[in-house]
Amino acid sequence: MRTIDWDGGAVVIIDQVALPHELRTQRLTEVAELVDAIRRLAVRGAPALGAAGALGVVLAIDQGQREGWDDDGVAAAIEQVRSARPTAANLAWGVERVAALVPKGRDDVLAEALAVLDEDAAANRAIGERGADLLLGLCGGDGPIRVHTHCNAGALACVEWGTALGVVRSLHERGRLGRVLADETRPLLQGARLTAWELDRMGVDHRVVVDGAGPFLVARGETDAVVVGADRIAANGDVANKIGTYPLALAAARAGIPFVVAAPESTIDPATPDGASIPIEDRGDGEVLVIAGHRIAPEGSAALNPAFDVTPADLVTAIVTEARTIRPARGERPV
Ligand code: MRU
Repeated sequence: MRTIDWDGGAVVIIDQVALPHELRTQRLTEVAELVDAIRRLAVRGAPALGAAGALGVVLAIDQGQREGWDDDGVAAAIEQVRSARPTAANLAWGVERVAALVPKGRDDVLAEALAVLDEDAAANRAIGERGADLLLGLCGGDGPIRVHTHCNAGALACVEWGTALGVVRSLHERGRLGRVLADETRPLLQGARLTAWELDRMGVDHRVVVDGAGPFLVARGETDAVVVGADRIAANGDVANKIGTYPLALAAARAGIPFVVAAPESTIDPATPDGASIPIEDRGDGEVLVIAGHRIAPEGSAALNPAFDVTPADLVTAIVTEARTIRPARGERPV
């Protein structure tokens, strides 16, 4: 099943907050429900947010018709979806692509939103194949390739298949995948909960490691390549991804192994010139200072909780999209 889909007037999502213990879906029929699901990370990951943005425009039109909103009311609801989270380029991209069709009417809007979903599914498969080809070339030999990944850039982060985990999937299908290391990904554990769940279902040999162990394991030669997704890629090739990605890129450069970013073209933002211009979401104290309902730090301590970091282009061996392979470390720019 798809991570996010449209069914009979509702956005249907796999509720990622419930995983890995329960695989359940949620039906969202109101804009506020979708915005809440995005903010709680019940639906998350840049490509899935692109799909959520696209379908959110349809929800806004439908709810507006039910509740008698005027054009300004619909526009305000669309803006709430667009700004629900700031870092992933795909969310605003999905909203804007589909909102441009609003003057043509609801049927055209829905058709465009569904096209966003289908295109993402196709793009992921192309990224997987291209990324697997690239890694086989970069790593050489004919043995299994061990991959280290961070956060969840799998089927759950997209409509289906996955970007970084799409590459892992393609290597697995070709019989060329070695052991996968999945960072647990503090503070919300997308690696331990979601990536491990996907790898387990694929039957892939994997280990969950704490984020702090990642760079050391790279240095110790435990992996052949680091492969991650992206939330926004600036025009110069700087890459924003889940907090904890940058140390892996540093470690990979030091160890002389490839650091590969797998992402659809829709994650590349021509309007963002460089990493310093990428808005980084700050998710506040609670996710860091409280674990499973229990405060773990003294009452007097506050936290800093940036949800993403920026890896500079010169540390990025390659960006693999559905259309091309860009080599930022060699000075190639996405835009
Ligand atoms: O906060 P999240 O879970 O939405 O962050 C997700 C990531 O950082 C992913 O690596 C990125 O969106 C790419 S998903 C294919």
